Amino acid sequence: MSDILVRDDAAIRVITMNRPDKKNALTQEMYHTVAKTLDATADDKAIRCIVIAGVPGAFTAGNDLADFMAAGSSNEKRAFGTSGGSTLLHALLRNPKPLVAAVDGVAIGIGTTMMFHCDYVVATKASTFATPFVGLGLVPEGASSLLMPRAMGHQRAFELLVMGRRIDGEAAHQAGFVNQVAAPGQAEAEALKVAAEIAKLPPEAVAISKRLMRLPPEQVAERFALEGKHFGEQMRSPEALAAFKGFLERKRA
Ligand code: COA
Repeated sequence: MSDILVRDDAAIRVITMNRPDKKNALTQEMYHTVAKTLDATADDKAIRCIVIAGVPGAFTAGNDLADFMAAGSSNEKRAFGTSGGSTLLHALLRNPKPLVAAVDGVAIGIGTTMMFHCDYVVATKASTFATPFVGLGLVPEGASSLLMPRAMGHQRAFELLVMGRRIDGEAAHQAGFVNQVAAPGQAEAEALKVAAEIAKLPPEAVAISKRLMRLPPEQVAERFALEGKHFGEQMRSPEALAAFKGFLERKRA
């Protein structure tokens, strides 16, 4: 079965990350498939809202660390801005349709930073949001260094982005980036209800309003580039390579 499933439920396109044995860790192929699916909806008038979901227990564990390890140890520098993560983030940024996230489990790294490109987030209390970039020897990505302090204030963003503290769905709701805390196992069902509500609204007015409410895309793209420059350099650093190796070779108790 594919690692990315796509289905339409009336005017709603549902994109499901589906690699449960690896907690939905994102491979290059998965990023590119989601990005292509998002781009394909941009001019599709039949689609009025997009839901991005995971599987029970995992929205996504973030970038596949084996892939980071391979990219960081390679002599070939991955051209800046061409990584799957970057491709997905740009696709999220340019997508004009309302984006609803359904989170039921771990949402790590880009799993959390993606939330700031969504318009409505449903999460179960048992979900875990975390951005362990600094602990991995990396730096924030996804324009999170710009969007997270803006959404929740510098201090709370510092706790997540620099200290790497984990928070659950309820705390994320209090922090302001989860709209709704769903009952256990109900994140996707609730997200579909929200998407159906949005899909009933006049689409042109929704698209214009979304654009007006968001920061200018050029400003966000500029932050992607600045973070990406540091991220790319850090990914090759001894501290990052040691952290990736530590995770991949960790001993189970
Ligand atoms: N990259 C590659 N593989 C990953 C992964 C990732 N980001 N996250 C989880 N996996 C794999 C594990 O290696 C394990 O594979 P295995 O069974 O073949 O050994 C499998 O997914 C299940 O993960 P496990 O750690 O056993 O599950 P858990 O429920 O105990 O913990 C997490 C889940 C997400 C908290 C934990 O896996 C984790 O911290 N992952 C790394 C997250 C991360 O740092 N992402 C990068 C952010 S920039």
